[in-house]
Amino acid sequence: MPNILITGASGFVGGAVVEHILRQPLVDNVQLLLLVRADDKAAGFSRIINNLKKFELSEQQLALITEDSILIGDLAEPENFINDTRLDNITQVINCAAIASFGNNPVLWKVNVDGTLIFAKRMARVKGLQRFVHVGTAMASMPDKGSVFYEDMPDNDHNEDLVQYTASKRAIEKLIRQECPLMPFVVARPSIIVGHTQFGCRPSSSIFWVFLMAIKLKKFTCTFDANIDVIPVDYCAMVLVNLCLNQDIQHDFYHISSGEEMCTPFHEIDTFVAKASNTKTIIDEYKQTSYQDFTGIRKQFKNILGPCNDKIILRAIKLYGGFAELDVKFDNQRLMDMGIPKPAPFRSYIDKCVTTTRGQSISELMMVDFK
Ligand SMILES: NC(=O)c1ccc[n+]([C@@H]2O[C@H](COP(=O)([O-])OP(=O)(O)OC[C@H]3O[C@@H](n4cnc5c(N)ncnc54)[C@H](OP(=O)(O)O)[C@@H]3O)[C@@H](O)[C@H]2O)c1
Repeated sequence: MPNILITGASGFVGGAVVEHILRQPLVDNVQLLLLVRADDKAAGFSRIINNLKKFELSEQQLALITEDSILIGDLAEPENFINDTRLDNITQVINCAAIASFGNNPVLWKVNVDGTLIFAKRMARVKGLQRFVHVGTAMASMPDKGSVFYEDMPDNDHNEDLVQYTASKRAIEKLIRQECPLMPFVVARPSIIVGHTQFGCRPSSSIFWVFLMAIKLKKFTCTFDANIDVIPVDYCAMVLVNLCLNQDIQHDFYHISSGEEMCTPFHEIDTFVAKASNTKTIIDEYKQTSYQDFTGIRKQFKNILGPCNDKIILRAIKLYGGFAELDVKFDNQRLMDMGIPKPAPFRSYIDKCVTTTRGQSISELMMVDFK
């Protein structure tokens, strides 16, 4: 019976991974251990259940998670949980936990690199470990502008990281490969995860607000035709579980992405947001605008976006605008070769993202990405 340790289950991706497993008909044959930050098991359990409720699981499905499924721990202090003997029985790990923020979190390196390495080294000593799936990020490859990034390409070390987050994600992959050479380690790098095909942004408004903000401003740093490699969180979760349990995988590195053909041009996002909100598209008014030019109009942000801190909005434009300008696609041939279906196109569920964010201001929606 697989005994899977999942980290980050109180978050967006880890929550979707648990959701995916709980919906499987053979779920009774799987044991789960969930690493979560909390003072005690009861508090950890309640954090996990509250997150899973966003995925509309039934009471019966939720009942499969109990306090015994909880491992209390913080990757900033891994020595406090790595001696738990339940880890010795783990057969697979899906490591979703990380500080996934573009902000300047002072413990970013401590959690994403130092703590994660200690945790990986501990799991490398588990005799029955069959797979350690580590969730990276496609942007860690620092792709060239306008390029397609293929899975067999080395990271572009000559390009500069736009944020420390991507540097930390690249560093930990390299360190685990160096220091745990015998561990059955697989890296899955998702592109940009936005919403859920069934529940829209209910599980998380992460990044969707960037599109809404750009549409409201009728300006952003990218062209109107720029391609955005977006995947839904439930697709990402399905792939992670497959990479975790599939006995026959050929590679130790995968992109989870929409691939060359399925990227969504920004103008299409505008069209489908307009349709779902019953508003006009901005096609005739959109203006590609540099960060520098945005600084000059910062005082208008409140009028356009509602109550907000113009400094934070400018910072968001700088951080997310830098990625949007890249106009990059991530090839997903390895998943296609495994017979894994393509992700649902963003346009097919944008309406659900619009509905589930209705009535919330940009300031409210963006909070999730500035923890
Ligand atoms: N969202 C995307 O677009 C995207 C794209 C590519 C890759 N990824 C990767 O996907 C993974 C999950 O991201 P996400 O979007 O799900 O982010 P998220 O919603 O912020 O979830 C992050 C998870 O990591 C946990 N975590 C953070 N610091 C921790 C610590 N010190 N010790 C233990 N757990 C800790 C969080 O726990 P708390 O609830 O206690 O904070 C939460 O459960 C990350 O590795 C990220 O790099 C995400």
